[in-house]
Amino acid sequence: MNSTIQFRALGPCIGAEAEGIDLREPVSAAQAEEIHAAMDRYAVLVFHGQPLTDEQHLAFTRALGPVEDTRGNNLRETADSRLPPLFADVSNLDANNRPYGQDDRRRLFAIGNRLWHSDASFRAIPAKYSLLRALRIPSKGGNTEFAHMGAAYEALDDETKAVIEDLVCEHSQLFSRAAIGFTEFTAEERERFKPVHQKLVRTLPRTGRSSLYLSSHAGTIVGWPLAEARLLLRDLTEHATQREFVYSHQWQVNDLVIWDNRQTMHRGRAFPAGEPRDVRRTTLKGDGLTVEQPAAA
Ligand SMILES: [Fe+2]
Repeated sequence: MNSTIQFRALGPCIGAEAEGIDLREPVSAAQAEEIHAAMDRYAVLVFHGQPLTDEQHLAFTRALGPVEDTRGNNLRETADSRLPPLFADVSNLDANNRPYGQDDRRRLFAIGNRLWHSDASFRAIPAKYSLLRALRIPSKGGNTEFAHMGAAYEALDDETKAVIEDLVCEHSQLFSRAAIGFTEFTAEERERFKPVHQKLVRTLPRTGRSSLYLSSHAGTIVGWPLAEARLLLRDLTEHATQREFVYSHQWQVNDLVIWDNRQTMHRGRAFPAGEPRDVRRTTLKGDGLTVEQPAAA
């Protein structure tokens, strides 16, 4: 098949708009490869005007690789579920399509995603791509911002690169939620969210490009005093989220945005709590462990 997709860069280092493809139609292997190549280069791809069904969204995801089951990653019960299996419900809506109350525990947990993070960095094998589609958006706010961790890594001085090269962090949603004062977890949730290890610098297999692997889920550095670890992670996050490394996406209904969690962080921005924001995510499985996990205690 001829090359049909055009990619237009959205900034100097991150993001491109894709045109010339209807994601309701089956995606050929050649088109999937064009998308992977563009993801390697831009890390975030925006597809406007894609009025997909959930089935078409899932079929497109499968065309790019094996799909991750994200159940258990938040505080929604299965009975709360609005969406088919394999979808992460990133909306603020309950099973009856009504916005959660402002004090709802599920909402307060979910707004932890307003901190910079990489999806599922708290899983031993973390996510590859996330594919998020917007069905309803609030009247204002609710942008998603993306920061390029490869460009941020390359801008570090050599001394810092040497310090962080072999470091391993512990990641857990318990850390990211504690950062916003959310610490009330059941014993079952603490067990489900127990920390995993991730390298702080990872390399993209296809490009060989190194990247900071940061996330608000990273709570400490193995072998370091906690205070020093937190300060280094905070410094690196401040560095990596400077505006020159960031693209801010203002959503339109029927946008589908793909990002590469291996080489980006992202965060949702605030919006009026009483307004529905229906966004749905599928996730591609990661390539493997970034580092060997500690033996279970
Ligand atoms: Fe996220």
